Amino acid sequence: MTPDLARPLRLESLAYGGDYNPDQWSEDVWDDDIRLMQEAGVNLVSLPIFSWPQLEPEPGVFDWGWLDRILAKLWDAGIRIDLATATATPPSWLLRGHPEMMPMDADGCRLEFGSRQTYCPSSPVWRENVARMTRAMAERYGDHPGVVLWHISNEYGDHTSRCWCPESARHFRRWLQGRYGDLDGLNEAWGVNVWGQRYTSWDHIETPRRAPGPINPTKLLDFERFSSDALLELFRIEVDILHEVTPGIPVTTNFMSMFRDLDYWDFAAAEDIVTDDAYPDPADPIAHVGAALNYGLMRGLKEGRPWLLLESSASATSWRDVNVPKPPGKMRVDSLQAVAHGSDAVMFFQWRQAKYGQEKFHSSMLGHRGEASRTYQETKALGLELRRLEEVRGTRVRSRVALVVDWDSWWGSSATESLPSQRLNWAGQARAWHRAMHLIGHPVDAVRATGPFDAYDVVLVPNLYIADAAQAAALTAFAEAGGHVVVGPFSGVVDDTEKVHDGGAPGPLRALLGIEVDEQWPHVDDARERITFAGVEYANPTWAEWIETDAATEVRGRYTTGELAGRPAVTRRGAGAGTAWYVSAILEDDGLVAVFRDVLAGAGLPVREVLHVDFESVTRSSSDTDYTFVLNHGRDPLAVVVPEGARDLVTGATTRTTMTLDRYGVAVLATPRAAEPPFLTLSPQPTDRPIQKAG
Ligand code: GAL
Repeated sequence: MTPDLARPLRLESLAYGGDYNPDQWSEDVWDDDIRLMQEAGVNLVSLPIFSWPQLEPEPGVFDWGWLDRILAKLWDAGIRIDLATATATPPSWLLRGHPEMMPMDADGCRLEFGSRQTYCPSSPVWRENVARMTRAMAERYGDHPGVVLWHISNEYGDHTSRCWCPESARHFRRWLQGRYGDLDGLNEAWGVNVWGQRYTSWDHIETPRRAPGPINPTKLLDFERFSSDALLELFRIEVDILHEVTPGIPVTTNFMSMFRDLDYWDFAAAEDIVTDDAYPDPADPIAHVGAALNYGLMRGLKEGRPWLLLESSASATSWRDVNVPKPPGKMRVDSLQAVAHGSDAVMFFQWRQAKYGQEKFHSSMLGHRGEASRTYQETKALGLELRRLEEVRGTRVRSRVALVVDWDSWWGSSATESLPSQRLNWAGQARAWHRAMHLIGHPVDAVRATGPFDAYDVVLVPNLYIADAAQAAALTAFAEAGGHVVVGPFSGVVDDTEKVHDGGAPGPLRALLGIEVDEQWPHVDDARERITFAGVEYANPTWAEWIETDAATEVRGRYTTGELAGRPAVTRRGAGAGTAWYVSAILEDDGLVAVFRDVLAGAGLPVREVLHVDFESVTRSSSDTDYTFVLNHGRDPLAVVVPEGARDLVTGATTRTTMTLDRYGVAVLATPRAAEPPFLTLSPQPTDRPIQKAG
């Protein structure tokens, strides 16, 4: 049985609430907090995330009183608890007693107490204390009826995702011994004859501290893998204790969307429920597009199961250069976008806006003006509105398109400076491919490079720099069974030790794609470079490849400028009942839209003719009902063609054939479940705000 089914969330409705820090306030305000929470429909709060020093002021001396009291009050008020293990940051006495557990940067500088996450993930002292604190929390509160979820640590890796200290070096060596067995294995894997890097003793292996020149790329890649695994081990210490002491309560740790430093496939496999913290920037007019991919990852991490939005902002953050508030209505559409994409929760950082400290200018549900604050009024309205959407809880998003997210390739193509171009940007490429799909109307789920792909018609592989035979076999089987695979540039280049595949790229993907890459041909950000696809020219400023095609491979697009003019740029090959595409250029939105329209036409999927970056529709389905969320992320009204006779959960009204979504408008249309999820379009009008905005 999968862990998340073994431990369902014991909550009778969509979760609504936020981080709660009652220990930053006098107890006098607690009753007020709870009254206002109830009025706003809050049913779940996360605490005490950063409170270890308040719970254990001296080693072994606990002060549970305040936590007992607030948990009792919350329980009486019907508000459930996402109980943190309080291990997100160590107390000062622990650090001062064990200065060796302070993290170290790549220059050998220890990071001081005074912020949070001041720990080396490999430190045995930290691990012992984390285990001790977790057990203490579990034993004290595991039977509390209000505790429905364990919140482990907080945003692993947010501040300290890598540590270069001597303890991390020892741990890195052990990790390498586990991976390679002996030094010969390691020397072979790392290709140490280049620049005289041979190791003759394990003790000679350090963390990749700053060196005179470029560091061995495979060592850098292994350090990325190791660092993700070191935090995963720390996570598992807590997971195991909580599962042992409180076997019925699900565990989670809050993710940070598409976060480079941790392999969330591994983390998600270790937990019961996926949770995410999402802070789309109100100053970025297309932040909602990025958010959609983040949410596609969250549901993809557990094969489509609902996840929880555990943190978001009611209005401004306080950690950007400029922290722009959310205009009226924006918080609502941002929140409902997460629900549209499979979240069964809307939660905020934080409940009551801080009066002091690092985050006093961060918006909260209850602003500095209290009940009168705009954020309270808007979050209260949303809390009540969510009750009307109750039916969608537990339903699943239906996407026809998946996008491969592969941390190894992300790390491999970004950890080293020894690459054909420093302009390669793994996440930027994934986001661009997703953005084009968003524009033509398809939500996208994240998948591993080995699948499973059976729920999809199209699988996008924006970059698979590190590729192996198993991934190639999975993608080939998908295409042969009728699927459509689109592979992006600089894929299939190296194996998992970063050795170039025999014959060069695309290595194991060669037979599937029917092409060979002779040379990578990056541009110096040259705005003049172009390709032609279906008779139209598109910009190709950063990257090209000299490719040779097999006889059976069709050239769909060609380079039209520069040294490669006339050579193939975009290819397609029939593969069994499906097709395999190779896009060798790094295209902008308009070029990608053109290619993907062609791919989708071949797959028999609908595409939007009228493009508008602010328009989004996503369908969550139960066994008998489709719930199609229709969202306007912009300030101008949108006229949308909708199914006739649908019930709008938001207004209770029944739809006619078109509806107008006002500024930041949202509708949730219930229709009987159809074989294909409804595909909504804008009614043709000359007011498109198409892809230029998404550039
Ligand atoms: C998150 C963090 C919270 C709070 C929030 C502010 O990264 O988990 O504790 O700092 O950011 O946006």
